Amino acid sequence: MKYDKNSDLVTLNRTQVSFRELKPGFGAEIINSDLRNITPEAARDLVRIFHRHGALLVRNQDLNPDELESFLSAFGELEEHTLKENCLEGHPFIYILSNRLVDGKPIGAHNDGIGWHTDYSYREEPVMCTMLYAKEVPAEGSDTIFADLCAAYKDLSRLKQEKLNDLTLHHSYKHFMETRVYNQTKINSKIEQENPDVYHPLIRTHPVDGRKALWVSTGTVTEIVGIPNPEGLNLLEELVEFVTQEKFTFRHKWQVGDVLIWDNRCTLHTGTLYDDTKYIREMHRLWVKGDKPF
Ligand code: SIN
Repeated sequence: MKYDKNSDLVTLNRTQVSFRELKPGFGAEIINSDLRNITPEAARDLVRIFHRHGALLVRNQDLNPDELESFLSAFGELEEHTLKENCLEGHPFIYILSNRLVDGKPIGAHNDGIGWHTDYSYREEPVMCTMLYAKEVPAEGSDTIFADLCAAYKDLSRLKQEKLNDLTLHHSYKHFMETRVYNQTKINSKIEQENPDVYHPLIRTHPVDGRKALWVSTGTVTEIVGIPNPEGLNLLEELVEFVTQEKFTFRHKWQVGDVLIWDNRCTLHTGTLYDDTKYIREMHRLWVKGDKPF
């Protein structure tokens, strides 16, 4: 491994993959990689970098749906989306986020990721990572913001860590869908049965290196087990405010061709609004299966 102090670039010897942190201690931007022609060894290096850094950005890509799926498969088995209606035709692993209308009909989900959350937290085995590929982006707005939940956990006092260590969150897909601000929907009984409530630890251990994350979320959480509401939800709100302080966050400004992959085991994220009367946003979203949080 080589580190260039002037450019902050780390270069891996074997594959010559180069990256620099997105902000000190968080995320990695891979420099000069063409994901269409990446070798299996270089793809394995990208996966290794991803596991340690919480998020991976690769700019200036031009990938068709098959290439997106093929590249992301290096990270693990792809996960289908809960709702099928916004998936790209013939590609159940690719979900479209967009405000574009074709023949008067939306081609994807609009404002789907607004509000601090971690993806699929309402499932027994939430997705390990999410990838967004930017097809068209507004000139202003629509940034995605990430919170580094490991940095937040590390920043807590020992006493506070001990207080939180054994707490459990109750997550509910039904609650999430029926109370969210955008795209509120009453779910049918089939979807409800397929998505029963689940319980996950508040402090999550990263399976790769054991680092701890203050794994809060909003939207899906109905209670902190053993702390009656409103006290429980007030504590949750306080923790979300804590982890989303500027010192723990990174704001990504999208460019067409960006591929951004984030680790849902140790980050929280939110989309932001944009002027949807003026601009079109179109992103392709893919997920990789994860394991049971511990
Ligand atoms: C998401 O939460 O999956 C999408 C976030 C975004 O659209 O910026």
